[in-house]
Amino acid sequence: MTTIQIIDGRAEGEQDRPFLPGMGRTWLLPLYDLFTRFARVRALHERTVRLAGIESGQTVLDVGSGTGNLSFSVLRAVPDAVVTGHDPDASALRMAARKASRRGVRLSLVQGYADRLLPEDGSVDHIVSSLALHHVDDAGREGFGREAYRVLRPGGRVTIVDFGAPDHGPDHDHNHSHGHGRRRRHGMNAYTERNLDNAIVSLLTDAGFADAREVDHIEHRFGPITIVQATR
Ligand SMILES: C[S@@+](CC[C@H](N)C(=O)[O-])C[C@H]1O[C@@H](n2cnc3c(N)ncnc32)[C@H](O)[C@@H]1O
Repeated sequence: MTTIQIIDGRAEGEQDRPFLPGMGRTWLLPLYDLFTRFARVRALHERTVRLAGIESGQTVLDVGSGTGNLSFSVLRAVPDAVVTGHDPDASALRMAARKASRRGVRLSLVQGYADRLLPEDGSVDHIVSSLALHHVDDAGREGFGREAYRVLRPGGRVTIVDFGAPDHGPDHDHNHSHGHGRRRRHGMNAYTERNLDNAIVSLLTDAGFADAREVDHIEHRFGPITIVQATR
């Protein structure tokens, strides 16, 4: 079993920078993989990988990679892809490292935030990200868009799957809100609502991607899921 190193890609002063962990609370992390199996997240990962269109030998950066499940879906589909998982959560990265060495797959891991990616300008073929952007605040999301545009090569692609929708959906009805403001769309919360109203498409467009668009939509039992893609 090979040991996988985790590179510290955090900037100076980021050691205490807060982040929202996978299950919302650090101590719930051991349940993360169990929960996502129950929620059938693997099917979302596989759909995202198919839409990304990753080819043999290409470099892939998985932003907000957590315990590595989207990275492993990439490696199952394209075993010789060169995949790096990037996440601020050291415990989740350690789980990803253990899983990768148990499976004997090649996976690089970087501890860091979405708004500071390590690759050089124009050096990455694909960025993928799953269920992570809703964990990132406005400044971090803007920084992610900027960094995604910087590290992708011309023609490189970013493919993001997360809770979200192009609009506020069927519950967006002021007449029935009885003065309590807008009703919450099924399954959404204060974090996932960041991705409503085409917010992921907008953040990529604002970063300079010309063709950002929703390429798939899934009505998941835990809420609406959007898959957004753009080409550098
Ligand atoms: C719900 S988990 C998704 C993990 C994995 N992508 C998957 O699909 O199973 C959200 C992940 O976003 C990460 N995250 C939180 N804040 C972040 C930030 N500022 N930059 C990058 N990742 C972040 C969390 O540590 C967590 O691993």
